[in-house]
Amino acid sequence: MGCFIAAFLFLSPQVLNSTVMKLQAVKGTFDILPEEQSKWRFVYEVAQRVLEHAGVQELSPPIFEHSEVFTKSVGESADLVVQKEMYSFTDLGGRSLTLRPEFTAGVMRAFIEHGMQMCPSPIKLWSRGPAFRAEKPQKGRYRQFHQINCEILGLKHALVDAEAIALLYQIFSELGLKNLLVKLGSVGDPPDRKAYNQYLREQLGQVQDKLSEVSRERLKLNPMRVLDSKDEGDQAIVRELKRPLDFIGAEARAHFEEVKSYLRNWDIPFEIDDSIVRGLDYYNRTAFEFHHGDIGSQSALCGGGRYDGLVENMGGPKTPGVGWAFGIERVLLALEQDRAELPTQQRLALFLIPMDDEAVAEVAKFALGLRQRFSVEHAYTRRNPGKGLKEADRAGAVFAALRGSKEREAGSYQLKHLASGEQITVSQTQLADFLAARL
Ligand code: HAM
Repeated sequence: MGCFIAAFLFLSPQVLNSTVMKLQAVKGTFDILPEEQSKWRFVYEVAQRVLEHAGVQELSPPIFEHSEVFTKSVGESADLVVQKEMYSFTDLGGRSLTLRPEFTAGVMRAFIEHGMQMCPSPIKLWSRGPAFRAEKPQKGRYRQFHQINCEILGLKHALVDAEAIALLYQIFSELGLKNLLVKLGSVGDPPDRKAYNQYLREQLGQVQDKLSEVSRERLKLNPMRVLDSKDEGDQAIVRELKRPLDFIGAEARAHFEEVKSYLRNWDIPFEIDDSIVRGLDYYNRTAFEFHHGDIGSQSALCGGGRYDGLVENMGGPKTPGVGWAFGIERVLLALEQDRAELPTQQRLALFLIPMDDEAVAEVAKFALGLRQRFSVEHAYTRRNPGKGLKEADRAGAVFAALRGSKEREAGSYQLKHLASGEQITVSQTQLADFLAARL
């Protein structure tokens, strides 16, 4: 956090009282400070490489959409709807708009709008960026968070479900995550879900008054979501009930068996979760989550599954699909817990120190050229060597280079390797090659 905390400490008490206390990031949101950027970039780079090597292309939908894009897709019993977790607003034109709570709906809207079903199947799309949910903030749960999202559209084959899971597993492995638990289940086809929901309605209807308020609400809209309740009383009731997997039909079961056999064949470890229920309603057949054991109650790093009816429900052509999204914040928390080696900020290669007024403009011009190859900063006014070298050290530079009248006459720079103290005089024309050889 370094200099950013320092800047805060130097603000006068009046400023602190009048401004800073009010001007804070909104609850559940946070800044990604410069020194944290390299970790975020690392996650983006690994995900991008793995996905694009598999032919997944990037699509960036807008951050907000017409509200119905989400209300039509996530389902009326999703927490996003039931617990009013969407950031919706009316714009000046009277349109109801919503900040995306997830990517899938926007990607499907784009798929339909651009007639992508005409492209050869499968159509593989990935996206990245912030998403917004008005959830109660806690560790691992924020109101603005960031997802990497992947959708594979056009094929019903179980191989696609397995490939989606394998891609995610590869990304997490390459990031260095350990302690991963892959939970795999199936929510069956719509008639299976209907039969299971009917069963739950009957069973849970008899004990309605013993259920928590949220579960009573869920019972009306989508009884399966009661399985997801964190309430201990609800859980005691749920433990006695049959599971979604007990209700899946022959076709969904065969599909599930196939997904499992691909994963076993590819040595991807997983655990069957016979009651996996996703928080969004559009899934059918395969549903999965990757959890991490050490990041607290919000342990789901990722969630996903198959959604064969979604595009059609949103007014598009019949198009099967499977996808997932992972939360970058939770993945970074998990990497910290696993003590994974994460890249740190790139070091500054060179800090130029002008020792007289004439050298100020000289080093600034020299830096412009050097920056085509290296990261270079300089002091903006003349410095004595001691102060200049301290500044170079604070900037985290590998080398510092001093320039005064003596160096001007000789056409050189006096270089210092800041870690070892080694000093070398290098001619101006050779300095770039010198750096290239030494960095
Ligand atoms: P989801 O399970 O709602 O699925 O979210 C996926 C992941 O996003 C979660 O596992 C978690 O890591 C992260 N996440 C969700 N909400 C928050 C939050 N409030 N704070 C921090 N992280 C959060 C979806 O979003 C689906 N659209 C995934 C999908 C894509 N299914 C098919 N295609």
